[in-house]
Amino acid sequence: MDIPDATQTRLPSVGLAVDELLAEVDARQSREPDVHGARLFGLVYPTGRDDLEDLIVAVNRRYLFGNALNPFKFPEIARFEGEVVAMTGGLVHLPQGGGGSMTSGGTESILMSMLVNRERAAARGIERAEILAPVSAHPAYAKAAHYFGMDLVRLPLDEHFRADVGAARELVGPNTAVIVASAFNYPYGVMDPVAELAAIASERGIGCHVDGCIGGFVLPFMEALGYDVPPWDFRVEGVTEISADVHKYGYTAKGASVILHRDADWFGRQFFVYDQWGSGLYGSPGVAGAKPAAPIATAWAVMQSLGHAGYVEIMRDLMATVAQVRATIDGLEGVELVGDPIGPVLALRSDSIDLYAVADVMDERGWHVNRNTDPYGLHLMLSPAHGLVVDQLINDLVDAVAHHGESRGKEARYS
Ligand SMILES: Cc1ncc(COP(=O)(O)O)c(C=O)c1O
Repeated sequence: MDIPDATQTRLPSVGLAVDELLAEVDARQSREPDVHGARLFGLVYPTGRDDLEDLIVAVNRRYLFGNALNPFKFPEIARFEGEVVAMTGGLVHLPQGGGGSMTSGGTESILMSMLVNRERAAARGIERAEILAPVSAHPAYAKAAHYFGMDLVRLPLDEHFRADVGAARELVGPNTAVIVASAFNYPYGVMDPVAELAAIASERGIGCHVDGCIGGFVLPFMEALGYDVPPWDFRVEGVTEISADVHKYGYTAKGASVILHRDADWFGRQFFVYDQWGSGLYGSPGVAGAKPAAPIATAWAVMQSLGHAGYVEIMRDLMATVAQVRATIDGLEGVELVGDPIGPVLALRSDSIDLYAVADVMDERGWHVNRNTDPYGLHLMLSPAHGLVVDQLINDLVDAVAHHGESRGKEARYS
């Protein structure tokens, strides 16, 4: 990675010609993975559908310069946002009286929820609130603890790589503000026991945040297809917040997530309001001040365009791809899945094969597989477009497991 010295690059004294600078942009982009090529796992979620991409580009162009900060000036952007929130709420059974907002991504959705949970705890007199989160939870919870002066209490996993309910009972304490459950988690694609964790939270009158950043746009469609999806959404009584990312399996471009609160009053605590300056009332429900309008309008358009049936259709094909990959993994001697992943995120482990060396071979063949540290192994996050290359993926994986050298020691890096 070539990060320029912040004191070296200067504004060109005279602007470059458009052709010249676009050539430079293209040259730089060509050195990065192709976001359409279905060789990346995670980070981007290609569908392989040109019609959807054309729509995303068209709506983006219309709203590229919009600012969602002021809903009084841009009431239609606020309406798009409200409709995305409501459509997402419908998918996860947000009850009457609930509310939420769009954010820039899963991390911001989690941050806003943790802030609200801290405020809820403060209202009960807790000075330093704790987040009780499985060790498999996304780093955004640690980030929230760091930003908001909270403590992260790490909940161990059971032998199935799910949050350990017994340990949760022991670790929940007088300062616990919120219990986190992932539906499903990033490292292994495994569902935490949401109902059991939410029951503990409910008994104590504390929050239960379900991280549906990945699952929010996967599980409702799996359920519609008849898969056995354990209870995880607002139909579980103690669940107070759910985050769901439209920019993952909702298939819009980056910058779109939704945070939902069972209780709109608590959503109200997300807002920062200030009028002690010379330019009137300032209010905002998230980290951003100026807030890009394009991701909001685009998320709306993608959701409207696909509709429930469109998402179900994509999920049917995606799960067929997942089944193919899982069948291959089952046939690989010495390699096994970590836990029992519910959907398109799979982690591989092995006691006899160095899976980082396997990843090196995959890298050489142009795949960008991710590495897990615990358990040591591979991480595959499948997107719809992987269906177009699944035979090649499977052949390369089988071959790499059979023929690999020593690991080059490339580290696991999520970001
Ligand atoms: C389960 C889960 N939660 C939260 C996030 C954070 O989302 P973002 O990267 O959009 O901030 C991710 C990202 O991969 C995730 O997998």
